[in-house]
This record gives sequence, structure tokens and C-alpha cells, in this order.
Amino acid sequence: MAPLLHVLNGPNLNRLGVREPRIYGGASLADIEAMLAARLKERGFGLVFRQTNHEGELVSFIHEADGAAGMALNAGAFTHTSIAVADAVRSVATPVVELHLSNVFARESFRHHSYIAPVARGVICGFGAHSYWLAAEALIHFYEAEEA
Ligand code: DQA
Repeated sequence: MAPLLHVLNGPNLNRLGVREPRIYGGASLADIEAMLAARLKERGFGLVFRQTNHEGELVSFIHEADGAAGMALNAGAFTHTSIAVADAVRSVATPVVELHLSNVFARESFRHHSYIAPVARGVICGFGAHSYWLAAEALIHFYEAEEA
């Protein structure tokens, strides 16, 4: 069976495409999922792509990704607020890459702090929808390095 990457999205990311397009771009979450699924298939990976507006559900999605080849996590605003999401990341063995469409460090100061970054393998931000592919490539890199 193809190794699976889980790509998990937190609150308001279902609004991509209509939400502040000057910050987040014009692609919808469905567009991003379709792009990722096609590219990952070419690289021999399967995709589980999920979104929730609820903190506890995001915690459960993270638990359910345990054992996957990798997890890319855009926790949205929970990045800056949620110890529960960070603890969930700590609870799984799956490598996690934190990602954001926007460059959070160029924005309001409350976005400069992440509870997830210290417990993630790495962080990608600022490349719009392309951040998702960069995070997926980073996870493929980790996976292939660990399999070798
Ligand atoms: C975001 C950045 C967060 O600060 C914000 O709350 C989001 C989206 C991003 O992808 O740029 O919801 O995670």
C-alpha cells in the first residue's frame, strides 16, 4: 500500500478562496487538495486531507494520523493559542511539518508565536498555496531518508 501523508487544516481554512484573498490567495482548499493528490500520486504517496473548525476535532485528526508517513499541519489560529493541539502533536510518532500560507512573521505580533513549532520537525510559511507542496516535499524527504 502507498505510504500516506495526512494534511490537516484548522479553523477558517474552509474559507480559502473567499477569505482575505490578498493575504491567502485565490485557491480554495479543494483546489489545494486536488493539486496535492495529483502530485503525491506521481511520487507514490496517498493523501488524507481534512479540515475542521473545532479544536477537539483537530486533536482527534492528529491522533488518527499516528503511524502515517508524515503530517502537514496548518492549524490556523490554533497555532497561536492551543496547548491541546501542541500536546496532540507531541503524542504521535509521525513527523509533523507546521505550515502557513501567509508569512506569519510579517503580520501581527500575536501570530509570531507558535505552540506547534517547538514540537514540529520544521515550519514552512509565506508561499501561499505552494506552502502545502513545500511541506509535502519536506515530509517525503524525511520519509525517504528514514526508509533508506
Ligand atoms: C494561517 C495563519 C494564521 O495566523 C491564521 O490564523 C490562519 C491562517 C495561514 O495559513 O497563513 O487562519 O495559518
